[in-house]
Parts: sequence; structure tokens; C-alpha cells
Amino acid sequence: MRTILVTGGAGFIGSNFIKMMLKKHPDYRIVNVDVLTYAGNLGNLSEIDASENYVFVKTDIRNRDAMTEIFKVYSPDAIVNFAAESHVDRSIEEPEIFLTTNIIGTHVLLETAKKFWKIDSDDKYSREYKPGVKFLQVSTDEVYGALGQSGLFVESMPLLPNSPYSASKASADLIVRAYNETFGMPVNITRCSNNYGPYQFPEKLIPLMINNCLQEKDLPVYGDGMQVRDWLHVFDHCVAIDTVLHKGKDGEVYNIGGNNEKANIEIVKLIINTLGKSEDLIKYVKDRPGHDRRYAIDNTKITTELGWKPSYTFEQGIKETIQWYLDNKEWTDNIATGDYAKYYEKMYSNV
Ligand code: NAD
Ligand code: DAU
Repeated sequence: MRTILVTGGAGFIGSNFIKMMLKKHPDYRIVNVDVLTYAGNLGNLSEIDASENYVFVKTDIRNRDAMTEIFKVYSPDAIVNFAAESHVDRSIEEPEIFLTTNIIGTHVLLETAKKFWKIDSDDKYSREYKPGVKFLQVSTDEVYGALGQSGLFVESMPLLPNSPYSASKASADLIVRAYNETFGMPVNITRCSNNYGPYQFPEKLIPLMINNCLQEKDLPVYGDGMQVRDWLHVFDHCVAIDTVLHKGKDGEVYNIGGNNEKANIEIVKLIINTLGKSEDLIKYVKDRPGHDRRYAIDNTKITTELGWKPSYTFEQGIKETIQWYLDNKEWTDNIATGDYAKYYEKMYSNV
């Protein structure tokens, strides 16, 4: 049995990933380590709670002793690091936690993995690791910065992050890279575009617009709404991560995108029309400071070298996603009170 340590597995992408992995690899054990911030929700995983080969540990990836204990008890063969503060707007309000979780947390995981995976961890010249181990860092296309009207992100581009969030993710990428270069650790970094799909926290564009639309509340569009994102269905992303985990060449970075470039305003109008609401709900508000204009991914490396490609068209994916939010209103209602309501009020009352 292989044991995969998944961090941040109670969040949007991590929870979808764990559910897919348990179906696809019933002989694997998944250990989910999550501190359950506002974005972590064990309800996302209720259908696999009772699985024999699934374990949940509530703890912080920044806690060295706790990570050491987890390695001692479960001896993971691989780490897939999703745990992060992930929302750009929050990183503008409160950058520091992005630095500690996204950078220091990643470093704690790397250091613990090195201690347990390196054959002779006291010999700084040794580059020999236990067979089959892998550290997979889930990163983002935002580390490349912003594109103009044309061009695509390729893996060899320099990192030019613009927000505290993306700067923290870029820093983590560089530390992961350094552990490969200096210590020979088998690592991969994946950089994906904007995910959408079931269980996404309603602070992000698509679920926020669906939720507000259903309540006939204003739909806050930043700036002119012409910023472009390359939308990737979360199920496609999870398959891509599994592919890199098993077939990725050590030390390599793989971009993952959906080939679905859309301007924000197009998406907002599509949601309004699908839900049969009025475009009068659209409210153009002050732009996000440092707002990246366009992201778009070149998938060539992962498609040609590892054989992955996205299966969802945006039309199919968004239809299913809107339907999921309609069928699971209770899930959003449980989140959209309490802390989220306070966040929403603070974030959108002055724009
Ligand atoms: P999310 O915010 O939904 O979930 C993050 C999870 O990490 C939560 O369950 C949270 O409780 C947990 N967490 C946060 N701090 C932690 C800590 N210190 N210790 C342990 N757990 C902690 O995020 P997501 O959208 O699922 O994103 C997952 C990863 O993918 C992140 O690393 C993010 O940077 C990256 N990513 C996301 C997208 C996207 O569109 N959502 C795109 C590209 C990359
Ligand atoms: O590109 C990958 C990144 O995608 C991930 O690394 C991040 O974790 C993830 O949050 C996401 O970042 P974005 O900033 O692109 O996503 P967000 O959903 O916050 O915003 C998408 C676009 O919609 C962006 O141009 C800002 C705009 N927007 C967003 C919100 C929340 C609005 O116009 N109004 C809004 O209320």
C-alpha cells in the first residue's frame, strides 16, 4: 500500500482530489492534514469519512513537531501540498499569514520529508532517497505575473508575481526547486490556472456570482470586467495532479490549463442568463489593486510528455457547476453566514 500525505485536503481542490484518488487507487492510503481555516470544511469529505484507507489529522503544516509525528506514524511515500491561503483579495488585506503558511509551511514539509526520506540524512553530499518518494507542490499560474493581449505562460518563463498571494506561492516554488537542486529531493511543481467546480468556497468569482445571483444581490465586477482567466475544471486538475504524481520527471515543473480563456464579464453574464436573472444585478466596482489582466496556459509540456489533456469544455463544466450549487444550496448556506458574512461586508461595503 502506498501512503499519500495530502495537505489542505479539506479545501476545494484538495477534497476533490482525495475523493478521486480513493476511487482511482483503492489500494492507497490517504492521510489528510488540514488545520481547518475558514476555507477548510470536513463536510466536503463526508462521503469518504468512513473509508478504511482514509485518515484525517487536524493540524498546521507550520507545526514541525506535528509533521514529524505524522511521518513517524504514517510513513508517507508522497506529499501533495495543497495547504495554502489561496485568496488574492485576502492577501491584499492581510499579507502576513500568506507568508507563514505558504512559504514557511512548505519549508516545514520539505525539511520533514528530507529527514525521513533521505537514505543518509546526516550526509549533506548524499542525494539518495527511499525509492518511489515524491514531493508535489501545487502551485499556480499567477507566479508568472500577467500577460498582455497575446501569448501564453510556459514553464521556462521568469517568475514575476504581483500580489502578496502569488509572491508567497512563487517563493514556495523556489524553495521546492532548491530542495531538488541542492539536496536531490524528488519533487514536481504544478502550476495550474483558475479552477472551478463543486465545493469551491463562495469568495471566488464563480461561486460568489452564482450565490449572489440566486439571492438577487449585486454582482460586484472589478474594474471593466475584461480581465481574462483560463478556466480549468477541478476534476481535470485532479487527474493532472495524479498524472504528475505517477509520471512526472523529478525536478520538473508542469503547467496545467483548461484551454478556456474567458473575460470575467462573459462569465458573469453567462451565470445570470443560465439562472434567468437580470443583467441589472451587475455592479461595476473599484478594481482590485495590482489586478492581473490576463492569464493563459500553454499545456504543451504535460500533454506531450505525460499524455494528460483536459476533458471538460467550459460550456459543459459551468452548466454542471451551476447545477451543483443549485442542488447543494445548504452547503453554501452553511458557509455564507458567520465569518464569511463579516468578510463579505468588509470586502464589498466600500467599493
Ligand atoms: P482553499 O482555500 O479552498 O483550501 C485551502 C485548504 O488549506 C483549506 O482546507 C485550509 O484549511 C487549509 N490550510 C490553510 N492553511 C493551512 C495550514 N497552515 N496548515 C494546514 N492546512 C491549512 O484552496 P484551493 O482553492 O483548494 O487551492 C488549493 C491549492 O491550489 C493552493 O495551494 C492554491 O494556491 C492552489 N491553486 C488554486 C487554484 C484555484 O483556482 N483555486 C488555482 C491555482 C492554484
Ligand atoms: O490563476 C490561479 C488562481 O486563481 C489561484 O492561484 C488562486 O488561488 C485563485 O483564487 C484564483 O485567483 P483569481 O484572483 O484569478 O480568482 P478570483 O476568483 O478571486 O477572481 C477571478 C477574477 O474575477 C479576477 O480577475 C478578479 C475577478 N473578480 C473576483 C471577485 C471575487 C471580480 O470581478 N469580482 C469579485 O467579486
